Amino acid sequence: MPTMGYLHNGHISLIEESKKRADITIVSIFVNPTQFAPTEDFKAYPRDIERDLRLLEQAGTDYLFYPSAVDIYPNNFQTYVDVTEIAKIIEGEFRPTHFKGVTTIVSILFNCVKPDLAFFGQKDAQQTSVIKRMIEDLKYEIEVVICPIIREADGLALSSRNVYLNPEEREKALILNESLKQAEDIILSGERNTVTIIKKINNNFIKEKSVHLNYIRIVNADTFKEADKLETGKDYYCLVAAKVGSTRLIDNRLIHIK
Ligand code: PAF
Repeated sequence: MPTMGYLHNGHISLIEESKKRADITIVSIFVNPTQFAPTEDFKAYPRDIERDLRLLEQAGTDYLFYPSAVDIYPNNFQTYVDVTEIAKIIEGEFRPTHFKGVTTIVSILFNCVKPDLAFFGQKDAQQTSVIKRMIEDLKYEIEVVICPIIREADGLALSSRNVYLNPEEREKALILNESLKQAEDIILSGERNTVTIIKKINNNFIKEKSVHLNYIRIVNADTFKEADKLETGKDYYCLVAAKVGSTRLIDNRLIHIK
């Protein structure tokens, strides 16, 4: 399990799944500088290794891989892994260098740890698809296991970045999950036109001035291509990204069309 630390129950659920499926569970903690743009929160990203160690031990992790920045990126480092299509759309439009940093570090971690299975959270749905593409293209023999999003009791998806939210922003942040729930309800009631669905959800954000919507998209769950009409039997992700105060949050729902 590659992680950036500041562990929460979402990470713990990945460890639990790994303990069910694998003989040895290895977690890495590395706040990866190359996946943050210069304007983003690399410096501020929450870190608490003592707390993480306690949580890892409680969860029964066998090994922690905790490399330093120079172990991973020595001075003469020059090689990156770049997925050229799926990494450039949606989240990639807002964070153009992000997935290149993710695939580079994940590929380095795979080479160091040599896992048979790799566990990722569905919360970063596009990240899981980008990594699966990389695994296929670079012929890694690694099975990706995607684990469901873990939420607070009121629906907010767990994220290490939730710690940035003040109480008022924390309340406003519920709009992400509530909008996804609304999109799901509209789809369950029979609507198949994604423009209509997105328009309705968009209205929530227009009303909520303190939340700045980056995008709401409905995409094919395999290809991440945007869908105009939802087709029976297929899976789609409804994806949302928004800034609440200065904190950027993402969330999604996997929806199967019956
Ligand atoms: O999802 C994350 O926390 C990171 O993107 C990952 C996969 C650990 C790579 O740094």
